[in-house]
Amino acid sequence: MTQPGLFISFEGIDGAGKSTHMAALAQAFEAQGRVVTRTREPGGTALAEQLRELVLQAAMDPMTEALLVFAARRDHLQQLIEPALARGEVVLCDRFTDATFAYQGMGRGFDLKTLHYLEQLVQTVKGLDGDLIRQPELTIWFALDPRVAAQRLAGARLPDKFESQPVDFFSRVSDGYLQRLLAHPQRFARIAAEQSRETVWQAVLNVVRQRGWLA
Ligand code: TMP
Repeated sequence: MTQPGLFISFEGIDGAGKSTHMAALAQAFEAQGRVVTRTREPGGTALAEQLRELVLQAAMDPMTEALLVFAARRDHLQQLIEPALARGEVVLCDRFTDATFAYQGMGRGFDLKTLHYLEQLVQTVKGLDGDLIRQPELTIWFALDPRVAAQRLAGARLPDKFESQPVDFFSRVSDGYLQRLLAHPQRFARIAAEQSRETVWQAVLNVVRQRGWLA
């Protein structure tokens, strides 16, 4: 019998260092014989990657931006995430809907009620016992002071539309993540990302081990 799929998302403001730990966690799962699909949002499929380019580079109003990230998410869920979960794989996703609430909702000030509606609509998928609203089983939030993140990003590669936002924007985004944590305390694990890389990694491992998903 195949094991049930497992869906974990990684969140945090730009510069929080989540991608490094996502790669290490993929290796840890593979070392225990699990098949891992690593993916990202916006993106993960050919269509969603095209939408990503638009969202990250083109100027647009907040509603257009929100609709595009949800359109990308719908394709990503249908083409990649749901089939991988159905095969019993571990899906590690660099950002998911919490990013939309944090960036479009709090960062841009786009209506949260509309985002809730879109979340229900877009993430309704067919489960074994009927429709369900797909959410990660675990969301690891790499929490970092926006001023520290700005220092880390300074001088890095050419910033995209979001990375070039002022510190105030990222303070609002961080508040957005906090609100999502408070609304979904079981699903979220908050890790202080200003600690050393090794300490952060141990914290990631602990969170996953506590849930019984890694030995
Ligand atoms: P990345 O650089 O971590 O891959 O993230 C891409 C950027 O897109 C990042 O600045 C956050 C932003 N973003 C949103 O604004 N809304 C979303 O729903 C997602 C998934 C990402």
